[in-house]
Amino acid sequence: DTGANPVVRRVSDWDADRLAALADEHGTPLYVQDLDRTRQNCERLLSAFPDADVRYAVKAHTGRAVLETVREAGLDAECASAGEVDRALAAGFGGDRLHYTAVNPPARDLDYVVDVVEREPAITVTAGAVDTLDRLAERGYDGRLCLRVNPGVGAGHHAKVTTGSAPKFGVPYDRAASVAREAAERFDVVGVHAHAGSGIDPDQLDSHRELVARMGDLARELIGAEPDGNDEPDPLDLEYVDVGGGFGVPYREDAEPLDLDAVAEATRDAVGDLSGLALAIEPGRYVVADAGVLVTRVNTVKPTPEGTVVGVDAGMTDLLRPAMYDAYHPIRNLGGAVDEPDPADREPEPVTVAGPICETGDSFGTDRALARPARGDLLAVGVAGAYGYEMANQYNSRPRPAEVALADGKATVVRRRERLVDLTTVEREATGAEVADR
Ligand code: LLP
Repeated sequence: DTGANPVVRRVSDWDADRLAALADEHGTPLYVQDLDRTRQNCERLLSAFPDADVRYAVKAHTGRAVLETVREAGLDAECASAGEVDRALAAGFGGDRLHYTAVNPPARDLDYVVDVVEREPAITVTAGAVDTLDRLAERGYDGRLCLRVNPGVGAGHHAKVTTGSAPKFGVPYDRAASVAREAAERFDVVGVHAHAGSGIDPDQLDSHRELVARMGDLARELIGAEPDGNDEPDPLDLEYVDVGGGFGVPYREDAEPLDLDAVAEATRDAVGDLSGLALAIEPGRYVVADAGVLVTRVNTVKPTPEGTVVGVDAGMTDLLRPAMYDAYHPIRNLGGAVDEPDPADREPEPVTVAGPICETGDSFGTDRALARPARGDLLAVGVAGAYGYEMANQYNSRPRPAEVALADGKATVVRRRERLVDLTTVEREATGAEVADR
């Protein structure tokens, strides 16, 4: 692709020498997040949806450098917790560029957000249960409110992330209009919201269309554009219809990317005439996924009767998606083993790539045809920029990896590698127990 902004970046497109140099300098496992590619993804979204409010679902990657890049590119921030709101504020999102979506919000989160909105009244709180509305009102909240609706139609790469049809999320569609009207007596109701799920692929566009159409109908009903003939309720002064995120990216090397322009067109068609209301979308994965890789080093190559197992120093604690969703991530051998030829000159061999955690599920893939791996090689696990570092954890007492951001060809460590002493911080602060600093 000669275009300045290709539709997809594959793991094969990364500069192997550069990744190897970063791994040598900073150690492995190492996340590398390309901020230039992150910006390009923002730009493609903005150009496909020129009239929409584009809000980055920050849960996909909350690193400060990413948030600043996304803010500078012109996207708003959609936050799912007090912690995410806090990070977004620190990265310079404020006022009408910050949105908080509460799902069964802990009291601590509501206290925090209500306090923030007192200072920043242009923030919008999205709520999807009458109890949440009551809890906001109990805290004296009377600001901007968006009602999350359960559209009854979902989509996504896995049942565990298909939100649109899960009763946990949003007010049931057939109750949404009356709940919104009641809410308007207590809050400034500015929008309606729904989210189909995460990882919508080209073959799931019908579900997306269906969701968008329902939300368009609901909004028209609420603003009084489609009188239902009964006792006419007062129209609501809505500003927008938020149809959520979920745009999928290709993980398999041969998978077709979404045609974003076609998605945008389908969205506009399905939502119908909004009589001046804005359309909002909130993609997370699409912004960051193909801008990140996880680099890991081979430490063990073990022939077994069932095939070769390649042991690496990254595991499900660093990248949980394969273990949690059976998610596929492309893997490329970058080479680097002493006395081994360049990977391009090695035979491909079907291998299992497994991490150091004591769980069978701790595998990045089975039957993967990799240029025959040898001890000391570096492997790049691709499309790891979304829900990668974000879902990393310390299980098996594993310090989290470091992360390097690339911008304009320059590499900066943006999250240092955790040390063993970091594993016991909260325990030591609670008990005063002493540990060695290593
Ligand atoms: N808006 C709402 C209300 C959401 O709940 C989500 C994702 C998004 C937007 C952004 O969805 P995206 O564009 O990133 O697909 N950990 C899972 C994904 C969970 C997504 C949860 N909600 C994974 O690794 O696949």
